Amino acid sequence: MTSSRIAEARFKAKITSAEQAASMIAPGATIGMSGFTGSGYPKAVPMALAERMTSAHEAGEPFQVRVLTGASTGPELDGALARADGIEFRAPYNSDPIARDKINRGEIDYFDMHLSQVAPMVWEGFLGKLDVAVVEVSGVRSDGTLVPSSSVGNNKTWLDRAEKVILEVNSWQSEALDGMHDIYYGTALPPSRVPIPLIRPDDRIGETGFRVDPDKVVAVIETETPDRNLPFSAPDQTAQAIAGHLIEFLRHEVSQGRLPASLLPLQSGVGNIANAVLSGLLTAPFENMTAFTEVIQDGMLDLIDAGKLRMASATAFSLSPEAAERLNADMGRYRDRMILRPQEISNHPELVRRLGCIAMNGLIEADIYGNVNSTCVMGSRIQNGIGGSGDFARNAYLSVFMTPSTAKGGKISAIVPQVPHVDHISQDVQVLVTEQGLADLRGLSPKQKARTIIAKCAHPDFRPALEDYFSRALSGSYGLHAPSLLGEALSWHQRFVETGRMAG
Ligand code: COA
Repeated sequence: MTSSRIAEARFKAKITSAEQAASMIAPGATIGMSGFTGSGYPKAVPMALAERMTSAHEAGEPFQVRVLTGASTGPELDGALARADGIEFRAPYNSDPIARDKINRGEIDYFDMHLSQVAPMVWEGFLGKLDVAVVEVSGVRSDGTLVPSSSVGNNKTWLDRAEKVILEVNSWQSEALDGMHDIYYGTALPPSRVPIPLIRPDDRIGETGFRVDPDKVVAVIETETPDRNLPFSAPDQTAQAIAGHLIEFLRHEVSQGRLPASLLPLQSGVGNIANAVLSGLLTAPFENMTAFTEVIQDGMLDLIDAGKLRMASATAFSLSPEAAERLNADMGRYRDRMILRPQEISNHPELVRRLGCIAMNGLIEADIYGNVNSTCVMGSRIQNGIGGSGDFARNAYLSVFMTPSTAKGGKISAIVPQVPHVDHISQDVQVLVTEQGLADLRGLSPKQKARTIIAKCAHPDFRPALEDYFSRALSGSYGLHAPSLLGEALSWHQRFVETGRMAG
């Protein structure tokens, strides 16, 4: 291990072990940790903290903390702390299976929230006093500023607000990351807010590093552990069909003059379908594209290599191990094409609206009126969280949601009479795509939306039942604006819970 990444004497003097750093965190603390979709999260201190928790529990002493991050992290953070029964409260996003299980068993309180709102809410005081920041960086410069890591997330806010700061300096991260980031220090709370001076996705409006008060830094740990980069599966037929429908639609919009030939800044959600769409764009006739998005996935790297994507703005990388290696090996070149920003800027509603993003996100289910459930299976069991999908969907120029038309081997229809939980109201859902087809919902009334969604998006196994429900609702509903049979609307979900199938 070397301290060559730490070029400032006061920080060098604080180099210590992860165990020593973890001993500075008290039970009940609120901790702001770095990390976003498996990038740039601290890898040593949370593991050491989890060991302390386990020892405390064995001795009959309680030891839990409140954990705030950018978004999802990795097994060394959420996984380790959840396994140790060490998380009392979690926000703003989780995709770790152990933590998910404990949330769904009622053992962890989880605040699932819009990712752009975390930093303002911390400043407003709604998430409590921040005791400790544990932040991974890729270096400390001689002037004491910090070179961010492979994600920015809420790190600026943690470093500004926390009483104590623990830094993990990770030498696995490429040194050439230095210069890629754009950390904007001009945000404020109402009534002092001013417009954010970003007009194009490639504008730089901030600084390349974080500021931190060196007196608050209590420990510096050196690590060289890779990010949790998970492989993407090659797009299957379903994902390819969804991507095909969407790309055909975008071509049509260009031909109608409703989109420029370079499209508008792309936002691409998480998961394999989003990545399949990016792969599809490789051979589509759009050039000189840009991305104003939350995460940079493999598909965006491919688009940059192919000369199709001019630049990408995001808050984090979300790459497969192969793509992460490719990026690290050639960071100097990619650095000119990518900007990583705080998530309150990458996802900022003002910017998403001004730039006119094309938002493309996944969903769990949608109802015949176009309301979308992205988070709660059967209305009550959290899958991940809303993430940034709401930040983008409500404010985009074009808001697209994509899903296979069935789940769990065909036992579940992704198009249902009514969603049992709503993340995105029908007004925020303009286009719905499944492998069956694409429903353009712009300018349609609820009844027109229902007919379009059933015809274009529902799986043939479930289409007749949806048609039957809708036609009976047309005569039996209390009102005929968005016809609904209240006693029956959630019966498909109830049947699944009782029998394991939605179909009767
Ligand atoms: N009913 C019940 N379960 C369903 C379902 C449905 N209609 N649709 C999907 N699922 C289950 C799948 O079976 C799978 O479960 P498993 O892990 O037990 O196999 C799980 O949900 C994930 O589904 P998958 O098909 O792998 O979807 P995905 O990786 O494309 O993710 C979301 C879909 C909705 C979970 C994901 O897009 C998400 O978390 N979105 C919200 C956050 C977001 O949009 N972030 C991006 C903003 S920038």
